[in-house]
Amino acid sequence: MTTDIHSAFFPGNPDLAPVLMLHGTGGDESDLLPIATFLFPEHPKLGIRGRVSENGSNRYFIRHEDGSFDLENLKQETDWLLNTIEKETQCYQLDAKQLIVLGFSNGANIAAYAWLNQPTTFKTAVLLHPMMITPPQQTRNLSGYRAFATYGDVDPIVSEDNFDQLMSQLQNAQASVEVFKNHQSHHLTQTELMAAQSWIKNL
Ligand code: MLT
Repeated sequence: MTTDIHSAFFPGNPDLAPVLMLHGTGGDESDLLPIATFLFPEHPKLGIRGRVSENGSNRYFIRHEDGSFDLENLKQETDWLLNTIEKETQCYQLDAKQLIVLGFSNGANIAAYAWLNQPTTFKTAVLLHPMMITPPQQTRNLSGYRAFATYGDVDPIVSEDNFDQLMSQLQNAQASVEVFKNHQSHHLTQTELMAAQSWIKNL
């Protein structure tokens, strides 16, 4: 694990909500930029790289070889990510309360985990192929929080049951959630991105 922060900032219209890009396993601080640009063309964009390495692939928390997750590490890395978001938004003079998270897979998972387990500044998220890593320990009040979440019915990583549980946890916490289920796997498609775009237009 490195102590350095790897982040990338792409300026935009400062009057628009900044977008925080959280990559999937093997991504980095800027690999979601084409997707972020498609969804939020004029918005300022910030990417933060996860500091865990899985055989050279960047992640936000440790996954063991048997596929199980290191929940202690998840907690620790969530604290690190939330602190880093605070530091980086200050550094680039971004309003952390307006932040819209754009998370894919591992990045979406840590964002959803953070919402259900910690106080967070960000309240809006596009969660692409998220899963629930562990059921939350306590009930949080997420009223005023909004998410658009996608699921693929032939995804070998996220089961429908797991995805539905995550959506229920968010909804039980009073978050407003729009779910998009599609015939696809654990990758991004034009169809889901267009659905995300329509949701974003109504924010
Ligand atoms: C995770 O590890 O967060 C999930 O298995 C998704 C992934 O990154 O493959």
